Amino acid sequence: MYRRIKNTFGIEAQADKVLEYRTEAELRTFVSALAGESLLHVGAGSNLLFTRDFKGTVLHSGIRYVMPVHEDAEHVWVKAGAAIVWDDLVAYTIARGWSGAENLSLIPGEVGASAVQNIGAYGVEVKDLIEWVDCISLIDGTPRRFAVGECQYGYRTSIFKTDLKGQYAVTYVTYRLDKQFVPHLEYGNLRSELGDKAELTPADVRRAIIDIRRAKLPDPKELGNAGSFFMNPVVSRQKFDDLHALYPQMPHYEVEHGVKIPAGWLIEQCGWKGRSLGAAGVYEKQALILVNLGGATGADILRLCHTIQHDVAERFDILIQPEVNVL
Ligand code: EPU
Repeated sequence: MYRRIKNTFGIEAQADKVLEYRTEAELRTFVSALAGESLLHVGAGSNLLFTRDFKGTVLHSGIRYVMPVHEDAEHVWVKAGAAIVWDDLVAYTIARGWSGAENLSLIPGEVGASAVQNIGAYGVEVKDLIEWVDCISLIDGTPRRFAVGECQYGYRTSIFKTDLKGQYAVTYVTYRLDKQFVPHLEYGNLRSELGDKAELTPADVRRAIIDIRRAKLPDPKELGNAGSFFMNPVVSRQKFDDLHALYPQMPHYEVEHGVKIPAGWLIEQCGWKGRSLGAAGVYEKQALILVNLGGATGADILRLCHTIQHDVAERFDILIQPEVNVL
């Protein structure tokens, strides 16, 4: 009994079995019944590229509970089930006047993946909001709560993608939201997009972010994609100085361990923006996004990925790495 695995790239991929659980208890039952079998836990499939079928069982959370669990004068803590659509959670918090998540509006995917991937946009990362992450071991079904400090968060990474990869399913994430609104408007054209309105609300920022994203990012319902395909590379100060002398117009951001260069810019410089290789394409408005032009296989997308990596490495001596999980 093969079953199709959902993914926003629109790639055909099958698993032996696809199971959805509604509660932590049901997940533990599945884990003990499936002991020794290959398991793959997925979210909405918005950050996955399948290059083959999966010989094993795909698990997906159906936990959709959301509830404020604690508050003080300044904050409210909201516990959300892993299967809640991330942007629905953002809308829920903003509708109640709680802020902090507005810059992360419209990021595709579910709550569980937000904590695995450390989603980020417009100067905010979800690690800034997370208080703890509740998990169930996929090995023996034991529950474990990770405080944010234990999650080893970094740029688009966490312990769930590295040391503990494949070992835990996220069941709930608890986020700390603000009662007092402190806007984060430093990134790119966000401030100018908002105009000069005197009293900004989180809903205003959410609307501006949605407009910016809609104008620049393809809707997976119309054009298969997984958001940014590559991570933005961080290079040493020396390497940056050498490149900057050659390309004074190169955009860049100072970060902790060097200088971050937008991979979209590097790819565009190599002439790939809007170009394609068979049914795999580079999105015409944002070169960081690879798209399925119709009927692409995972191998087609991967071939385009390798070709772009090769061209960027040849021209800039930088190896850009996928952000998307390639399976
Ligand atoms: N740029 C180009 N050409 C392009 C694309 C970008 O020259 O084709 C330049 C832009 O002009 C700008 C710079 O690169 O100077 C940065 O571009 P942008 O603001 O669009 O952001 P990004 O670095 O390409 C990152 C995230 C996005 C997030 C935006 C906004 C990663 C891998 N991507 O993209 O996240 O929405 O910043 O914060 O960090 C995602 O992770 O799926 C994602 C969409």
